[in-house]
Amino acid sequence: MRTQVAIIGAGPAGLLLGQLLFKSGIDAVIIEQRSPDYVLGRIRAGVLEQVSMDLLDQAGVGARAQAEGLPHDGIELLFKGARHRIDLHALTGGSRVTVYGQTEVTRDLMDARAAEGLTTVYDAQNVSVHDFDGQQPRVTYEKDGQTHELVCDFIAGCDGYHGVCRASVPADALKTYERVYPFGWLGVLADVPPVSHELIYANTERGFALCSMRSTTRSRYYVQVPTTDKIENWTIDQFWTELGNRLDPEARANLVTGPALEMSIAPLRSFVAEPMRFGRMFLAGDAAHIVPPTGAKGLNLAASDVGYLWTALTEFYNDKSAVGIDTYSDRCLRRVWRAERFSWWFTSLMHRFPETGEFGQKIQEAELDYLVNSRAASTSLAENYVGLPLGFAEAATP
Ligand code: APR
Ligand code: PHB
Repeated sequence: MRTQVAIIGAGPAGLLLGQLLFKSGIDAVIIEQRSPDYVLGRIRAGVLEQVSMDLLDQAGVGARAQAEGLPHDGIELLFKGARHRIDLHALTGGSRVTVYGQTEVTRDLMDARAAEGLTTVYDAQNVSVHDFDGQQPRVTYEKDGQTHELVCDFIAGCDGYHGVCRASVPADALKTYERVYPFGWLGVLADVPPVSHELIYANTERGFALCSMRSTTRSRYYVQVPTTDKIENWTIDQFWTELGNRLDPEARANLVTGPALEMSIAPLRSFVAEPMRFGRMFLAGDAAHIVPPTGAKGLNLAASDVGYLWTALTEFYNDKSAVGIDTYSDRCLRRVWRAERFSWWFTSLMHRFPETGEFGQKIQEAELDYLVNSRAASTSLAENYVGLPLGFAEAATP
């Protein structure tokens, strides 16, 4: 088999790239090691920046996110028992975010791909990438007991943190940066109305909590837990009690409980691999970087990487220019590090760190007090929360 771009991984990054390339008349095949149901079963964050919404539109799959997504003009910060609203819309001069689950984004992209009859190979085993340092890279994989080969011009490594693409790069060509946090998030998805119409980020002496949602009838809640906690040790009733204990009296009174559709613990990590291009192979999304979920930047960063890669490949095929390809890694990494900094900062501000004790919490409360009472500080949070424009990477000076 031959294609122009071999995309490894059918997560949101790979599927979005496939759809954008299709719109530009560039041929791509997606190779995914899991089944479609497995990919759709993963519950992830659900806040889309305008840049991500625009890319979905450009890929021709934005209609349902526009119609069913919930536009949010603000978020609330809860500390010392009181909630304070950050008016994202007013502070950024008109930007907002859209609450729409990653599962739905993935479903919309899968449906569009199927409707166009584009090739996705699911359940591919032993996927390997070859010769990306030369002119004609190849991908090999096994399916139904047979070995297959896909010859291509470029490989897009959209295969997530545990994928094969980054792992195939010689160790001395890669530099990685990592921070692992001493806690995780216990998350619950439930068909109950959200406690409030906006997201609540809570800093409490019992630890962080987040009240989010997928729709007006489906809520997504999280509480900070020690990394040593096991999901088997939590019942859904204990979760509701703990979440209630971390909320203000009004939110606690509004909390509707119910059975969990999903309940799991996720560790928190910051990770970046540099560079993001190796000859004719590019990394995009979680394959190149991980952010802690505070601020919901993971999916948005995956989308912006793909936006840069789409532009680069379109320039290559349509304009015979390699500029986009040559600048891909630098453009991505500049935006990636901005989001890494924001996610790290927001995580550090909102969680209890075992080692910093009561002093640490007092310092956080002082910073939160400053944040909600200074327009300059609130604006900084707001402009990072709604996300930087893609074109920001072109600006000459930081
Ligand atoms: N061969 C083929 N496919 C692979 C391989 C492999 N060796 N390894 C992993 N994959 C697949 C995974 O099964 C998965 O479907 O690559 C896909 C990667 O998808 P994601 O992990 O969702 O990563 P990405 O598309 O970059 O999306 C980033 O996901 O983790 C969240 O916060 C993150 O929201 C962000 C988004
Ligand atoms: C979510 O809805 O899952 C979510 C929302 C906001 C975040 C993180 C996760 O900051």
